[in-house]
Amino acid sequence: MVTIDKLKEELKKRLPKERFEHSANVAEMSIELNKIWGGDVQKLLYAAYLHDIARGMSGEKLIKIAKENNYKINDIEYMNPVLLHSVVGAIIAKKEFGITDPVILNCIKYHTTGRKGITLNEAIIYVADFTERGRNFEDAKIVREISFKDLKEAVLKETELNVYFLMKQRKPIHTYTIEMFNDLLKNEIR
Ligand SMILES: [Fe+2]
Repeated sequence: MVTIDKLKEELKKRLPKERFEHSANVAEMSIELNKIWGGDVQKLLYAAYLHDIARGMSGEKLIKIAKENNYKINDIEYMNPVLLHSVVGAIIAKKEFGITDPVILNCIKYHTTGRKGITLNEAIIYVADFTERGRNFEDAKIVREISFKDLKEAVLKETELNVYFLMKQRKPIHTYTIEMFNDLLKNEIR
């Protein structure tokens, strides 16, 4: 597997400046959350740096790559193909960066939608993506403050705010997101 330093170097070349900075900020926030909640800091770093590797791709390209890799695209993803940047990000992390660890790949794959049975590492990336220091809108501040006291509540709050935001724009809500929300009402982060 590529070293973190090599990975950073490579991503600096591949990603637009703002996206690289966002990824570095997600890494930084993941480290902070890891200090409080645990998880695997090394895996979090790989996931943080790579999570948006496919974010710049067009919907068409995302659909094409997902299909080529036998991912079964659902109706919601067809309606809002940008959702696929997580799935395709995990595919690229594996194919182009040699990441085979399912913990890292799942952090990337579920960073936008979450999922039922979300794990600690996945929850940290999900929250850090929303609360990293470059995110200075009010909702990010609210979730950031909660995340230092109660990680599960931070996931729920972020989901609530995201879903509200999407609904206002009349965008579809991914089933994984709803399943995660319902699951966390009775279960803990795994
Ligand atoms: Fe993303």
